[in-house]
Amino acid sequence: MNQETLKQQIKQLAAEKNALLIAHNYERDEIQEIADVTGDSLALSIEAAKTDKQVIVFCGVHFMAESAAILAPEKTVLLPRADAGCPMADMVTAEGLRELKQQHPDATVVTYVNSSADVKAESDICCTSSNAISVARSVESKKLLLVPDRNLGRYIASRVPEKECIFWEGFCPTHDQLTAEDVKKTKADHPDSLFMAHPECLPEILELADHICSTSGMYEYAAKSPAKKFIVGTENGILWRLKQENPDKEFIMPSNCLVCPNMKLTRLEDVLHCLETMEPQITVAEDIRVKAKLALDKMLAAPRD
Ligand code: 13P
Ligand code: SF4
Repeated sequence: MNQETLKQQIKQLAAEKNALLIAHNYERDEIQEIADVTGDSLALSIEAAKTDKQVIVFCGVHFMAESAAILAPEKTVLLPRADAGCPMADMVTAEGLRELKQQHPDATVVTYVNSSADVKAESDICCTSSNAISVARSVESKKLLLVPDRNLGRYIASRVPEKECIFWEGFCPTHDQLTAEDVKKTKADHPDSLFMAHPECLPEILELADHICSTSGMYEYAAKSPAKKFIVGTENGILWRLKQENPDKEFIMPSNCLVCPNMKLTRLEDVLHCLETMEPQITVAEDIRVKAKLALDKMLAAPRD
């Protein structure tokens, strides 16, 4: 079946099943193209919570679909590729977090949404890359356990110096590969460009950035800035919308390593198949869901950075 026929069939079936197609900004171009909504982790969680559609097809990775299932338990949440995981989320377990909490009983646990429902259930509040600073500031306690991303954690600590921060040593294997040399070389080749970086990048990369933000923050920054050239310090799926929304601007990747294999798993065939079979469904055990929802709800009450 060709791509156009696949897209038509997906749209038709989604309408019949009263399904909302959601795609993260790192998904393949054709997946973002058919989605009703694209966005960063925060925007997609909000969309999942507020939609009146009965079915959510989450084109992203497992923890994102799980967040939708936590926030909207009455809906059917489908993840077209059950094997689309997030290695960073897998770097922390609920048991490991419980041990760290015992060592720091006076600390508040701030957990990045890139984590399992079990880990969220052990957390006081969640954050995403677009509200991490506001969330950290909103917490009363002086001491924070920042889980699981050490790079996002160190970025938060640099912006909220009044807090004592303890870091879980997890990282994103995609963003972590970007080197300062890659960025410096690209900047030297394009001296008239601005460098936007995602907080999952290493601290030495963030030091080189003109702007640090979530994926959605990059769309806003590129659209508002008078600059014509941008070096993009995040996963390359973001290029599709950046180019669409800014046809007069140029976007340059500083390295070929910025590809998340998990985000690239979902293809049109998978979306069609999951709508036909209504599988794989993502569900969360009710005791875990209720606790994890508390941490997500507190996050949703915080403003964006
Ligand atoms: P945001 O879309 O929230 O910026 O997160 C990036 C990411 O790595 C999601 O896995
Ligand atoms: Fe996880 Fe990194 Fe992929 Fe995001 S880009 S899903 S953090 S591995």
